[in-house]
Amino acid sequence: MIRCSAPGKIYLFGEHAVVYGEPALACAIDKRVTVEVIERSDGLIKISSNDLFFKDVSVEIAGDGEVELSPGERTLKPLHYVFEVISEIQSIYDGDISGEIGFDMDIKTDLPIGGGLGSSAAVTIASIKTLSTLLDLDLDLEEIAEIGYKVEMNVQKRASPCDTFTSSMGGLTWVETGEKLEKIRSLDLPVVIGDTGKEGPTGVLVEKVSRLKEDYPSVIEPVINSIGEITYQGLQKLDDNDYSGLGRLMNVNHGLLDCLGVGTEDLNQIAYVARNAGAWGAKTTGAGGGGCVIAIGEDPDKIATAIEANGFKAYKTKITENGVLRE
Ligand code: MEV
Repeated sequence: MIRCSAPGKIYLFGEHAVVYGEPALACAIDKRVTVEVIERSDGLIKISSNDLFFKDVSVEIAGDGEVELSPGERTLKPLHYVFEVISEIQSIYDGDISGEIGFDMDIKTDLPIGGGLGSSAAVTIASIKTLSTLLDLDLDLEEIAEIGYKVEMNVQKRASPCDTFTSSMGGLTWVETGEKLEKIRSLDLPVVIGDTGKEGPTGVLVEKVSRLKEDYPSVIEPVINSIGEITYQGLQKLDDNDYSGLGRLMNVNHGLLDCLGVGTEDLNQIAYVARNAGAWGAKTTGAGGGGCVIAIGEDPDKIATAIEANGFKAYKTKITENGVLRE
């Protein structure tokens, strides 16, 4: 049996502005997706997940390496990523994964799915590590991240390499100009996540910001530049261990995301509830339009309790050094 897990991620600073060449700072969080495979003797591939509510979905691989599924199965979103992983791994493996190998795969997650916390990247990266380990393919973390990015592009048609890179490498990712990614350091920082329970459609929100920028370039371009400046100064606050300063910059970043049109009433409510409970800072993380707020503060329990008292889910987590790993 082989079991590997990969973390989700948050953006500490810079989402949306990163689309226009500004830097961003993403962090792996200690909420993970775990994928387990056990070899079968009959060559079949079956995938199950109690956490994601499906059981024994069969997978077949055609001669050209394409994964075939019945139409009903295509509606199970996280599975698309796993199918694409099997396809990609088949394309670099000499033998036949189905027929010759065959396995039962089980997926567990303590990361909320579809909340803008990089769950699809974590499913993808954990699956790549598990299957490549089963097949004795010697992939390093960069190679796993690269295959993961390809998988996300194939499934979503538009993706940022940041999620798969951060899930593979762990720690803090500095995104310099969209495509240039670097693991810079790690950090031991507790984070509270407040979840609106609603999914924000990334592509639609990126498009919305783009239209606003086109219609009001002289207003919106300085906002985007300002988010970039916050990201540089945020990194400096991290280097100085100045968490209350970091929080103040998170609050400004939250306001700027709101003014770009990706905020919602729920996101603002969670941010204010967290701040009123003593958070140094709270901001939307990811594309917005739903999804999650991240908050940092001296008393994470108090912040989480306040968010829950207002009817939202709250998760206490921390930034983690651990990227994808075999357990
Ligand atoms: C979404 O997680 C992050 C955005 O900046 C989009 C992107 O970078 O591709 C909103």
